[in-house]
Amino acid sequence: MPGGIDPHTHFEFEFMGTKSVDDFYHGTKAAIAGGTTTIIDFAFPKPGESPLDAYHTYRLKADGKVCCDYGLHVCLTGWSDQVKKDMDLLCRDHGVNSFKLFMCYDFMVDDGELYSAFEHCKNLGAIAQVHAENGKIIIKNAEKLIAKGVTGPEGHEISRPEEVEAEAVNRACVIAKQVDCPLYIVHMMSAEAVEALQSHRNRYGGNVYGETLACALAIDGRQCRHECFAHAAGHILSPPLRSNAQTPTMLMKFLQADILQVTGSDNCTFNQSQKALGKNDFRKIPNGVNGVEDRMSVIWEKGVHAGIIDPSRFVAITSTNAAKIYNLFPRKGVIAVGSDADIVIWNANETRTISAKTHHQAVDFNVFEGMTCHGVPEYVIVNGRVCVDEGQLRVAEGHGRFIETPVFPPYVYDPEKYITLLTEHKNGTVEQNTQNFQKIHLEQY
Ligand code: URP
Ligand code: ZN
Ligand code: ZN
Ligand code: ZN
Repeated sequence: MPGGIDPHTHFEFEFMGTKSVDDFYHGTKAAIAGGTTTIIDFAFPKPGESPLDAYHTYRLKADGKVCCDYGLHVCLTGWSDQVKKDMDLLCRDHGVNSFKLFMCYDFMVDDGELYSAFEHCKNLGAIAQVHAENGKIIIKNAEKLIAKGVTGPEGHEISRPEEVEAEAVNRACVIAKQVDCPLYIVHMMSAEAVEALQSHRNRYGGNVYGETLACALAIDGRQCRHECFAHAAGHILSPPLRSNAQTPTMLMKFLQADILQVTGSDNCTFNQSQKALGKNDFRKIPNGVNGVEDRMSVIWEKGVHAGIIDPSRFVAITSTNAAKIYNLFPRKGVIAVGSDADIVIWNANETRTISAKTHHQAVDFNVFEGMTCHGVPEYVIVNGRVCVDEGQLRVAEGHGRFIETPVFPPYVYDPEKYITLLTEHKNGTVEQNTQNFQKIHLEQY
């Protein structure tokens, strides 16, 4: 099958007063070990840094270090004329076609800013991404819990229940609809949030896509109530894993039914010593878990082996759909003449048991610890180089390349430079889409 594409990682991410421990070398090495051959990370501006500078900072961190190909989304932590100009340059000259905005955290944007950013994405032919949770409600809920003495990791989920995620999903969809902008909702963690997405889609159609995470498909929020702080804090991310034990299966069924389209890992790893920053206040536990290495195996186990999705759908949700949405198809996400040679030979009969003792990531904890998965990559070919050979990992630092994710025309359509999507007609003829490219592309998806 085509190599996995993980469109959601955070390597070397300075966040919540610390920095994620998987760097671009360990992160991409681990990705390959698990059958992923392309990752898309998030360039995040430090305080005072512009989006364009953040992009360059991330290129410097990653180029020469990555073992597999990578692309970049750029995070917008505010809205101004400068941000708007940077978006123009990022799309025109830097191979960026996606921008993430946050509806919570210190750097959340308000509805008017979302509107402006979405509108500009639309004009550029870019995709808007949102972290959908109502940040203002979370602040209030968390303050109340802390005042009542609920300071442990269990307070994290209690302060950000499903409806707080669902409300933000609906609001983001409504705003995107006003300006007809394609919207991609990252890390959807609850049934209620996905229902909000689907209800919007049913009513209005439109280009709205949903991503969920490997962790959300395999584990639930009861882990965050574990008596051991390190264990509980090790499972904290946002939006949170849900205490409803049915959630992982429901999310897998949403993927099966094409209500959700993509799976990522949101790999954003912190050691136990870093998680301990929130020992006395759950609001200070650095948010994030592992997954870049185990995503493919975990989804195979919980999806295909469990009989919920078939192998074709597995390929769609772990590779092809991300390639299509981020305009990398057919270069990535398919095995075809002319595509990059990113190929995985998957042994569905073999099993492996996940453990921090044997994983290739830098982090000292693994949320899938002890889980036995069917589905192991026997060979992983990254852009023509055999990097897993009969199960043996042989990566090369710097073998990966930065991959441009071109915007969708008409904004800057240059057939010399940008990969075009082909429409295959029933009579076998193939046509290049140049008119209304974005619409055709996303509808075909
Ligand atoms: O908890 C998470 N998800 N950490 C990474 C940052 C983000 O919001 O994606
Ligand atoms: Zn530049
Ligand atoms: Zn997020
Ligand atoms: Zn993330």
